Amino acid sequence: MSKTISIVGTGYVGLTTAAILSNIGYKVYTIDVDQKKIDTIKSGKSFFYEDGLDDFVKKGIDSGNLIPTLSYEESIPTSDIVFSCVGTPDREDGSPNLDYIFSAAQSVAQYAKQNIIFVQKSTVPVGTGRKVIEFIKNKNHDLQFSYISNPEFLAEGSAVFDTLNIDRLVIGGDNTEALEEVQKVFETVDTFVKSLDTTKFAGYAAFYKSGKEVINSTPFIERVIRTNLESAELIKVTANAFLALKISFANSIAKLCDETNADVNEVMHGVGADHRIGKAFLYAGLGWGGGCFPKDVSGLVNVAKNYDIEMDIMNAAVDANDSMIDYMIHKMESLLGNLEGKKIAVLGLSFKPGTSDVRKSQSIKLANKLVYKKAHLSAFDPQAMEEAQKTLDVSVSLKENINDTIKDADAVIIATEWKEFLNYNWSDAKSLMSGKLIVDARNRLNKKELKNLGFDYIGIGR
Ligand code: UGA
Repeated sequence: MSKTISIVGTGYVGLTTAAILSNIGYKVYTIDVDQKKIDTIKSGKSFFYEDGLDDFVKKGIDSGNLIPTLSYEESIPTSDIVFSCVGTPDREDGSPNLDYIFSAAQSVAQYAKQNIIFVQKSTVPVGTGRKVIEFIKNKNHDLQFSYISNPEFLAEGSAVFDTLNIDRLVIGGDNTEALEEVQKVFETVDTFVKSLDTTKFAGYAAFYKSGKEVINSTPFIERVIRTNLESAELIKVTANAFLALKISFANSIAKLCDETNADVNEVMHGVGADHRIGKAFLYAGLGWGGGCFPKDVSGLVNVAKNYDIEMDIMNAAVDANDSMIDYMIHKMESLLGNLEGKKIAVLGLSFKPGTSDVRKSQSIKLANKLVYKKAHLSAFDPQAMEEAQKTLDVSVSLKENINDTIKDADAVIIATEWKEFLNYNWSDAKSLMSGKLIVDARNRLNKKELKNLGFDYIGIGR
């Protein structure tokens, strides 16, 4: 691979993309402003948990193709393509903070060689790309460059798999040659996937065991979606908003199921079997969180407001999501009575399984609300204990395993559906707990089996 690539930002998107491209043979600079993160990557590992990623990082570092750096000056001038994968955290008013987007653009304006391609992978509000183009032009009148929007669809917990197994490549921009170049980079990823030898490299195991279709049989070219700049920007947030909407819809139906003896899992199985609807993202439960859905939904509402468009449908999705915490607590109170002094064990703190990320985690919101209700909490998460301590109430007693967490508990909540919890032998819990309530806040346990074991069971909509 003759191309040199710079990737600004070492988060889930940036580091995963950098590590994989370096494994394919590109020379890849992975850039961050945080010395600690750069040092960790230099030592051959990721600073966050993501199944299989460390192996790719290690191989990239060992080969010399993956070059972690703090310096734009070292990386950008020799790069043919610069990917911006920086964070866009939300501001108090719900609009995304684009400071990092413009500092990545600044680095291009200042250090890039002629004819550089600047690819925006970060999620930005529609219309941002044009502003970035103007910004770079104003900073450097002489620079010839192309700007491409290439939204990322990887999900945390399956970042490696999603990056390797491209289900769609959305690229938007005005310059056909630049679109072609970016497309070629991802075509090499698709070719790489097909040549993988799983026996050589432990990291690939995560990719193969994920259970999804391993090799996408649709020809690569048919998975490429070329659009104008604004459409590409809008595809990303619209997709996330729609998925959030689906979940909130399932949660609203779940409440009706609770009143009518219907089982929401059965209902959504039947509804999702209609291929026009699809089964994905119809799991009712505690609701959606993470670094993407909440931010993208509020970002969409916000950008629409700038054009005097009220996104009432998305506001309703947010309200439905927010309501799930109190809904769950209310259900618990109906069985346990006043929660003051009750011993409650919370299993799972990350916003979803497979990640150490706790941003906007509904599980942590639930735990903190239970503390507010004066319950006594113990908690455990297989990966997110360290992260959780930043937002979890200090009174929560953190444990090292399931058994220690549920010991003497009046109730156990499965707040995040880690497979460790789903595979747990619940008959063991009986003698450890002092009560007998299992709260299945993600609807993934076998209700009948638990009832047969003598537990009381609460799900959401079943
Ligand atoms: C999401 C999208 O799924 C990715 O396609 C996108 O690229 C990414 O955002 C992003 O914008 O970067 P992610 O936030 O990693 O990915 O997590 P998801 O798997 O989408 O889950 C989001 C939340 O929805 C989690 O809290 C999960 O527990 C919840 N969820 C998901 C449900 O409550 N029910 C479901 O049926 C599915």
